[in-house]
Amino acid sequence: MSTQFSVARPAVFSADWSGKADVRLRAVVIGGSGQIGGWLTRYLAERGHQSVGTYSSQSFADLVALDAGDPEAVSALLRAERPDVVFYPAGFTWVDGCERDKARAYAANLEQPLHVARTAADLGSRFVYFSTDYVFDGVEGRYAEDAPTNPLSVYGKAKYDAEVALAEALGDRLLTARTCWVYGPERQGKNFAYQLVRALDQGKPMICPSDQVSSPSYGPDVARAVLMLVEAEASGLVHVVGPEIMDRVQFARAVARAFHLDESLVVGKSTSELGQGAPRPLNAGLLIDRLEACKPGVMRSLDAALPDFRAKLDDPELRSWLAPVTTTGTGSN
Ligand SMILES: NC(=O)c1ccc[n+]([C@@H]2O[C@H](COP(=O)([O-])OP(=O)(O)OC[C@H]3O[C@@H](n4cnc5c(N)ncnc54)[C@H](OP(=O)(O)O)[C@@H]3O)[C@@H](O)[C@H]2O)c1
Repeated sequence: MSTQFSVARPAVFSADWSGKADVRLRAVVIGGSGQIGGWLTRYLAERGHQSVGTYSSQSFADLVALDAGDPEAVSALLRAERPDVVFYPAGFTWVDGCERDKARAYAANLEQPLHVARTAADLGSRFVYFSTDYVFDGVEGRYAEDAPTNPLSVYGKAKYDAEVALAEALGDRLLTARTCWVYGPERQGKNFAYQLVRALDQGKPMICPSDQVSSPSYGPDVARAVLMLVEAEASGLVHVVGPEIMDRVQFARAVARAFHLDESLVVGKSTSELGQGAPRPLNAGLLIDRLEACKPGVMRSLDAALPDFRAKLDDPELRSWLAPVTTTGTGSN
């Protein structure tokens, strides 16, 4: 598979990002109810773009219903919107669930996005796919974009096969952003940081793999960086992850400290002891030299992102849009 990357409008990266974009896009975000998709819809609006976001099972009033497995509904939405770009932060993202249900894993992570992408391409749209560091085996991470792939799990294989099939079908109309360990404030409150804060807040231990290493990636930053790349008309393959690598226990303890919770409740166990349903790459994580060459510092470290996570939970404008981290309030005690 081609691992190339190019940027048609690099001036976007040096422009002031606090205001409106110089070019107004029409966008569709499939998976607007998810953690990356939610921030994409928000940042698209802030930048003055016109966008429609979709949900599948978790409805929100500002989103429209869409099952990406319904070709007629996909076609109707895209024909109505005629988007310049379709973002696809969607799929069947439960790694152990994919291992148990290969057909669903391939339908949701390969066949449906490929169909949506072809429909979008027929209308002249660009397409943005989200992939993962699980395309690697975790023997010699962290990985650059052109490192050899070797997915271990059904989820990783489906994602990699989708990267290849989409690149063949779309050529330079495709941007594939690989990310991993996405955390931060979100509408559904599902991600690892929410699960951790809720458990620790109730005095329950959180068992984490001590030997899985990757790159924690702050969700709002992933969305913002990908939107910048789209405004810059980037195409090809790029890693969009946080600048650090660490094991899951270190990550969990950093989140616990940021929320003033008892980090000793984070209990490390080896992957072999845990017996997760799908095999995981151990020494994974991604290098971000390509992204850094475009926009240095766009992905914040945990030290900078965790205070922002708490600030967003407390922000009166965002409070009703985001899920609280605890049932007793925003949780940012
Ligand atoms: N989160 C991570 O750590 C991570 C790591 C690597 C790669 N990625 C990739 O990044 C992308 C976004 O991840 P995320 O964490 O933001 O995902 P997420 O929060 O789990 O959201 C997934 C989205 O997909 C939608 N969806 C599910 N089935 C659908 C269907 N049949 N038709 C249309 N939409 C459907 C969901 O809608 P409902 O919720 O309304 O059903 C939701 O909006 C995914 O492709 C994922 O594989 C994520």
